[in-house]
Amino acid sequence: MKVFSVLYWALVLTTLIEINEVYSLNILGVFPYEGKSHFFVFETYLKELARKGHNVTVISYFPQSEPIKNYHDISLAGKLKILEEVFPVKRSFWTIFQIPIFVVNSGTQNCKTLLEDKNVQNLWKAKSKFDVVVTEQFNSDCSLGLAYALNAPVVGLTSHALMPWHFSRFGVPFNPSYVSFILLNGGTKPTLYQRLESAIFDTYVRLLYKYFSQRVDQSTLAQYFDDIPPLEELGRNIKFQLVYTHFVHFGSNIFPQNVIEVGGYHVANPKQLPEDLRKFIEASPHGVIYISFGSMLKAASMPRDKIDSILGALAELPQRIIWKWDEKTLPGNPKNIYLSNWLPQNDILAHPNVIAFYSHCGLLGTTEALYHGVPVLAMPIFGDQPANAAAVEESGLGVQIELKELTRESLLEKFKTILNSGFRAKVKSLSQAWLDRPTSAMETAVHWTEFAARYQNFTFRSAAADVPLYQYLCLDILCVLLGIPAVIMLIILTYRLNCYKKCQQLTDIMKKSKEE
Ligand SMILES: *[C@@H]1O[C@H](CO)[C@@H](O)[C@H](O)[C@H]1NC(C)=O
Ligand SMILES: *[C@@H]1O[C@H](CO)[C@@H](O)[C@H](O)[C@H]1NC(C)=O
Repeated sequence: MKVFSVLYWALVLTTLIEINEVYSLNILGVFPYEGKSHFFVFETYLKELARKGHNVTVISYFPQSEPIKNYHDISLAGKLKILEEVFPVKRSFWTIFQIPIFVVNSGTQNCKTLLEDKNVQNLWKAKSKFDVVVTEQFNSDCSLGLAYALNAPVVGLTSHALMPWHFSRFGVPFNPSYVSFILLNGGTKPTLYQRLESAIFDTYVRLLYKYFSQRVDQSTLAQYFDDIPPLEELGRNIKFQLVYTHFVHFGSNIFPQNVIEVGGYHVANPKQLPEDLRKFIEASPHGVIYISFGSMLKAASMPRDKIDSILGALAELPQRIIWKWDEKTLPGNPKNIYLSNWLPQNDILAHPNVIAFYSHCGLLGTTEALYHGVPVLAMPIFGDQPANAAAVEESGLGVQIELKELTRESLLEKFKTILNSGFRAKVKSLSQAWLDRPTSAMETAVHWTEFAARYQNFTFRSAAADVPLYQYLCLDILCVLLGIPAVIMLIILTYRLNCYKKCQQLTDIMKKSKEE
């Protein structure tokens, strides 16, 4: 009997292992952009794929310091300088023009660095087989060419809302009347001026991308491969686009089924706070305000009068302050402010005594605030921050203030709005609604990634991505509908004109005969 039982269990075990092998996918992650905050989002998802037993190979600037099971790095670290604290706290029309140029230039550089790498080249030289390629969709389509060369289906990821050039490739309508434009703060209810701005900038950004990104990347790819189809076509072939937004925050939008909102999967369970921080937070009877302008902005580059206004407003509030600040001191060395150039943001926001977040409105921090139900005072500077800030205000997560409008009085008033207990209660309820999903953000992201690999021979894109523009805009229908009546009118008119002429001739003849 014992022998049978051993045999039985051996059989069960091998079957289980086999099942495990069947479901385990070979996944390639391609992340050629050196922005830390972006990769910070994707890393959580890549680790989860590895944890689930998939064999994950990741090309990025951020290799793991400790080896993780099933997670293999192809490191680009050291090839480009990591982007941190590079942008001044300044906002003007000119910055909105410059940001897309920065994005496009960094993308073409990333493409060259990616394909020059010997370890990356080994992938196609060794004819590596991958069930799916997961890749960032931000500043370049270069990785789509690599995926094509490896003959693998693609899942696109973002750490922000859709970029302007993503709309047409997925068949998502971009209508400046109600669709938020990522670089501007009109949100979903823009004024006429904002609609004009968004229409103009949208055209500008899309043209820039087409001629200065895709065209350059296409020729970079042509140095390594013979037969890469146009990158825009490869963009349309992306199986699923996992967008880092959620409708409770950004409002309802028209997305086809292969564009899926997965906002929130990077937020981890909070860890224990360092002792001094915990004491500082818990010893404040009126709660704590957390201030951070993120990792890309140089906070200390803020104009002196703005810093004075902020300090003036904070001095009037009973709350203690935790401020992520690059320098050792602030003017006047205020006592109620805890300064540090590095802070465990998610763990701070998770503490119930932290009751407001003054932020530049990067999507990571905003998402963490939403997760923990902390009201946000949004002061957007560049990139997607204006659109995030507009969504913060529209959803009721917080209010926004423009840098140029910032004074001691205006800031104090905004703080008083979000520190109000009624406002905070609504934010808690918004947070619950945001978290209340049929499957968690992470489960959703992982599911559609596996789905894309399992059913890679199917196409899930909307037909809207394929129809020519004149059909998309129904110009042909308009032509027919306006054309038919026009032709009928023309026929009638010609007929009447002929009649008229004949009548004229007749009367002329009659007149003549009368005279005779
Ligand atoms: C997993 O990925 C690594 C690194 O890309 C590769 O060397 C290995 O052969 C893969 N394992 C399987 C079972 O495919
Ligand atoms: C997809 O189609 C190819 C060729 O028709 C076939 O060899 C392959 O097994 C199919 N893949 C899946 C996952 O069904």
